[in-house]
Order: sequence, then structure tokens, then C-alpha cells
Amino acid sequence: MKLLVTGGCGFIGSAFVHMAIERGAEVVNLDKLTYAGNPENVADVADHPAYSFVHADIADAEAVAEAVKGVDAVVNFAAESHVDRSILDPGEFIQTDVLGTAVLLDACRTAGVGRFLQVSTDEVYGSIPSGAFKETDPINPSSPYSASKAGGDLQVLAWHRTYGMDVVITRGSNTFGPRQYPEKLIPLFVTNALDGLSLPVYGDGMQVRDWIFADDHCEGIWTALHSGAAGEVYNVGGGYEAPNIEITQRILELTGRDESLIAHVEDRPGHDRRYALDTTRLRELGWEPSRGFPEALAQTVEWYTSRREWWEPIKSGEYRAYYERQYGGR
Ligand code: NAD
Ligand code: TYD
Repeated sequence: MKLLVTGGCGFIGSAFVHMAIERGAEVVNLDKLTYAGNPENVADVADHPAYSFVHADIADAEAVAEAVKGVDAVVNFAAESHVDRSILDPGEFIQTDVLGTAVLLDACRTAGVGRFLQVSTDEVYGSIPSGAFKETDPINPSSPYSASKAGGDLQVLAWHRTYGMDVVITRGSNTFGPRQYPEKLIPLFVTNALDGLSLPVYGDGMQVRDWIFADDHCEGIWTALHSGAAGEVYNVGGGYEAPNIEITQRILELTGRDESLIAHVEDRPGHDRRYALDTTRLRELGWEPSRGFPEALAQTVEWYTSRREWWEPIKSGEYRAYYERQYGGR
């Protein structure tokens, strides 16, 4: 099977590239190499005969028309992915997550690609005070990021209804693991704690997320890619729900720091209070998360502890300017 994986130099995309190559697929990785795209993340497969790389933007119609030729399926990870950046600068999110998705979809339609899998997020459903979202629930996004991802999802479904394209959408929950850019909660707090820096908890820290380990998320995407029904959406949630303050305390414990590092800062505007997913549909295809949260978090902390050479260069340059803009006035 020949796969075009977009965004394969990012966090979850690179985990998926590794999984697909191990399982015998041929992988073309198309990535724009934004601030979040890191060739180091796939350096160990760069010379593999089943791997090739295309440096391109999913919104570049000519480049993607070329890249989708002869491909059996496309797995679209490429996106601007961080809510806080979307609040500061929404433009790139609309450009990549909405327009880019449409350009890529249309290239697949023209080339007759067998299946298009859109990697989406539970954030498109918005916040839920109790219970869990099913795939049939309406979407109600809160942030420019989730609204852009929702726009992408709607186009994917429209290409199915209008052109009969074989599409599948996965909506994953908050993902963590090795190689995650240190702007999201877990890698930011782990690397800050390792350096003895403060952990900026938004508001009261009682916002709840459903956490999933990256490999379990990729396994869910793999299952939906191979066994999902055309035109369907599949929730991919780890089922471990916790308030941010609990995650923060666990990180402090695992890094040997104390609560004096916790800094409650001004809340994120439009902050969703709780996410939760009903994953019955994907479980019916035989998928289930394989790793318990405490064990997977410990493994992740261990990775960041032993891989300073991966994240220390990232936390300089552009990152410093972002950090100051995001947290300086809070
Ligand atoms: P990431 O920010 O780590 O990586 C994104 C990758 O996409 C980078 O390699 C970047 O260079 C590339 N990219 C960005 N714009 C591009 C463009 N226009 N053309 C080509 N490549 C481009 O993101 P991630 O956390 O690995 O997320 C991957 C996907 O999973 C995204 O679609 C995201 O919405 C979705 N998702 C993420 C999470 C999470 O918790 N991280 C949860 C659910 C869903
Ligand atoms: P994040 O990792 O940005 O993922 P998402 O916004 O997509 O859920 O944030 C996870 C939770 O952690 C969310 O409730 C916001 C909160 N958070 C903080 O309290 N402080 C921070 O510095 C960050 C980045 C997130």
C-alpha cells in the first residue's frame, strides 16, 4: 500500500510514519516544515527504501497534484494545531486547515485516490459539561483552531456526498507522547519543570481533557483507515479524563519538583471546559487504547528527560518570541 502522509514531520504524523513503515507500507511524507515540522522526527527512517519526502504545502495545488499520483490513500495530518496560536493569529489556520484540506481533497478526487483520511479533533464538538460526544452530535467549535478543523471536516464530508469520494474522518482527543512540540500542555509543563521554570495553569486548572498516548491515537487512525466505512467519522479517545491541575501535579511528581512552580495565570479566551468522547464506533472495529495514562505519562517524561538535545534548540529563537507574546502579559 502506498500512502501519502501529510504533516509527517510533526508530532502525531511522525509516529504514524514510523508505524506505517514498520507495517510494510510505502510512505510519501509531504510536509511544509513549519515551526512545528521537524525532520529530526523522521530521521531514523529517512534512508528507508519505503520512505520519501516532499517539501510542500498542502495548499499548493500543483505540488499536491504531483504528490498524489499513484497513491492508494492519503492521511492528512498537516495542520496548524495549537489553540493559543490560533487565538493570536487565526490566518494560517484558515489557510492550511480549511483551504489546504480542500486543495488536497480536490487533488485526490482528480487523481482517483482510493481513500482520504482526515485527521481531525474532538475540539470540533466544543465543550460538554457531562456525558460524551458521539460522532452524530453536531459540531460547535469554540476557537479559531477548532473552527478551522471543523471547516476541514465539513469539506471532507461534502466531497463524499457530492463526488462520492471515499473519505473517513477521525476525531482524536488530546494526544501526548515523545516528539510533541513544547507548546502544548504536557510537553510545555514537562520541559519547564525539568528547567525549574513556572508552569502557567490557565484559570482554575479545572478544565478537563480526555488524554490519549500518540501510539494509541495512530493505532486508531490505522484501524479507521483500513476498516472504517466510507463517509464515516470515528472518535479516537483514550478515555482518561483529568483536570489540568491533576496533570500538572503528576508532572511535578515525575520530575521531582514541588507545587511552588505552579502559576495560575489569566484564562484562555473561549476556553472549553471539558472534552469527552464516546469511542464505541471505533471499538466495534476492534480498536482499543493499549496504554494506561500514568505509565504512558511516565514514559513521556522519561523521553523528555533523556532527550534534551531534541527540545532545547526548539525552546530558543522563534519559540522565545512566541512564549513572551503568549505568557508575558498574563
Ligand atoms: P504538529 O503541529 O506537531 O504538526 C503539524 C505538521 O504539519 C508539521 O510537521 C507541519 O510542518 C505540518 N504542516 C503545517 N502546515 C502545513 C501545510 N500547509 N502543508 C504541509 N504541511 C504542513 O501537529 P500534531 O499535534 O502532530 O497534529 C497532527 C494532526 O492531528 C492535526 O491535524 C491536528 O489537528 C490533529 N490532532 C492533534 C491532536 C493533539 O493533541 N496534538 C489531537 C487531535 C487531533
Ligand atoms: P493544549 O495542550 O493547548 O490542548 P487543547 O487546548 O487543544 O486542549 O491545552 C490542554 C489544556 O491545558 C487546555 O485546557 C488548556 C490548558 N493549558 C494551560 O493551562 N496552560 C498552558 O500553558 C497550556 C499550553 C494549556
